[in-house]
Amino acid sequence: MYDFRADPALPKPALYADLLSAADALTAGEPDGVANMANVAALMWDMLPDVNWTGFYRMVDGELVLGPFAGRPACIRIALGKGVCGTAAASGETQLVADVHAFPGHIACDAASASELVVPVMRDGAVVAVIDLDSPIKARFDAADAAGIEALARLLSDRI
Ligand code: SME
Repeated sequence: MYDFRADPALPKPALYADLLSAADALTAGEPDGVANMANVAALMWDMLPDVNWTGFYRMVDGELVLGPFAGRPACIRIALGKGVCGTAAASGETQLVADVHAFPGHIACDAASASELVVPVMRDGAVVAVIDLDSPIKARFDAADAAGIEALARLLSDRI
């Protein structure tokens, strides 16, 4: 049995260090990218407080396609440059959105979502996926969350 539930009172750097080592333990040596994304989506859901969607969109033939996630069913395909995820994928840069309703072109998958963090996963200089976190709380994510998920994206670069 895996039980990686962390203490939500931990300071963010410690929480993300725990998340990273749990993700490393779950994905090391496993060549199946879908299995690895599925476990990491579940891990983020389990370990991060105040989130209502955690998961992946993958780059497939020049557009983002829904990957493994936890949360409510979501939109399946997102064109590059569209929404928060498509903006992250097109720019290769993390998108930290304090209020999704103020983000032009935000794609609402769950009406409860209020803030969002999207981090690209890069391999050989190209975006291969994005990690997407939604929260029902405005300004839930900050630079410490971005740094933690960026470290996770680097770990997963050749594991998904
Ligand atoms: N809000 C995202 C779409 C994906 S859902 O949040 C799961 C966006 O604007 O790209």
